[in-house]
Amino acid sequence: MSDEINVVITGAAGQIAYSLIFNIIKGDMFGLDQKIRLVLLDLPAFMENLKGVIMEIEDCAYPLVTGIIATTDVNEAFTNAHYAILVGAMPRKEGMERSDLLKANAAIFKVQGKAINDHANKNIKVLVVGNPANTNCLIAMLSAGNIPKENFSCLTRLDHNRAKSQIALKAGVNVKDVHNVIIWGNHSTTQYPDVRCGYVNVSAGVKSTIPNIIKNEAWLQGEFISTVQKRGGAVIAARKFSSAASAAKAITDHMRDWVLGTPEGEYVSMGVHSDGSYGIPAGLIFSFPVTIKSGKYTIVQGLPIDTFSREKLDITLKELQEEKDLALSFLEM
Ligand code: NAI
Repeated sequence: MSDEINVVITGAAGQIAYSLIFNIIKGDMFGLDQKIRLVLLDLPAFMENLKGVIMEIEDCAYPLVTGIIATTDVNEAFTNAHYAILVGAMPRKEGMERSDLLKANAAIFKVQGKAINDHANKNIKVLVVGNPANTNCLIAMLSAGNIPKENFSCLTRLDHNRAKSQIALKAGVNVKDVHNVIIWGNHSTTQYPDVRCGYVNVSAGVKSTIPNIIKNEAWLQGEFISTVQKRGGAVIAARKFSSAASAAKAITDHMRDWVLGTPEGEYVSMGVHSDGSYGIPAGLIFSFPVTIKSGKYTIVQGLPIDTFSREKLDITLKELQEEKDLALSFLEM
C-alpha cells in the first residue's frame, strides 16, 4: 500500500456513512498502519450536516486520518482516488415508480463513473452500495472504460452476513463457525441465499454441511430464503429507518477482504462483473461466491446447481436483465 490512500465516500452526510466513516478511521477496513485521506462527497443541501460529521471525526482523534476534504464536486472528489465507496443515491420516494428510481440513479452513476474514469487512480477499487446497487454499479463501470471492469463491485455482503447469522441462530452455533454461504444475483428480494455448499465447524477439525446440521430442507428452501430476502424491509418496518450500522459493517468486511484477501477456502459474496460462469451472461453485475488474493477476486467455479437453484438463479437474472435494459434505455448507452 502507498503511504497515504485517498478514500472517497459519497453520501457522506447520510445514515450509513455515519457508521462507515468511523469504522474506516479506526482501522477496521485497511488495517492499523494505513494512513487515510478522507474525501467526503454529498449534495450542497447537506454540507452543513457534513461539517458536524467532520467535527466528530476530528474529535475522535484517530491517528490514521491525515486529511479530510468535504466537497460537492464529483471531479474534485475522485481526483487520485484509490478507493471509492459510492453510498449516496436517490432514495425511493412515495409514489415513485421503480423505473423513475432507476432513471434518476442511472444519471447519477453515469456522472460518477465518468469522473472516476477521468480523474481517479487507474487501480481504483470501487464499491457501489446505493440502490439499485447492481445496476448502479453496472452504469458506473460502463461509464469508466479506462478502468478495468474487475475494479467495480457492488455490496451483497450485508445479505451474506444476514444469511450466516440466520444459520447460526437456527443451528445454535456461533456465527464465526458458519462458512461458505452464498448470495447469488441481485441485491433485492429476488436474491438467492444458498447454503447447500456451506458448512459449520462443529468441533476442532470436524465440519458438517449446513443441510446436515439444520436437517430441515423445507425451512432452508422456504423461511430461511425469504427471511434473508426481506430482511431489509423488516429492519425498516421495525426501526423506521433502513439498515445502517449493519450495512456499514458489511461494507467494511467487503473492502477489507477485497484489499487484504479471504482466508484459504473461504467464500464471500460480491456483486461483480459476470463472465459467463454458472450460465449468467457476461455484461451484468451479479453476486457470486468469490475468493480473493492479492487484491483480485476469483469467482468460485464448479459448484453444483440443482433444479431448485437454477430456477432461483433465473428469477434474479431476469430482474437484473430488465433493470439493465431500462437503465441503458434512459442513458442511450
Ligand atoms: P441516507 O438517505 O441516510 O443518505 C444518503 C446520502 O446520500 C444523503 O446524505 C444524500 O444527500 C446523499 N446523496 C444523494 N445523492 C447523492 C449524489 N448524487 N452525490 C452525493 N451524495 C448524494 O441513506 P443511507 O441509509 O445512508 O443509504 C444510502 C444508500 O444505500 C441507499 O440507496 C440505500 O438503499 C442503500 N443501501 C444499500 C445496501 C446494500 O446492501 N447494497 C444496504 C443498505 C442501504
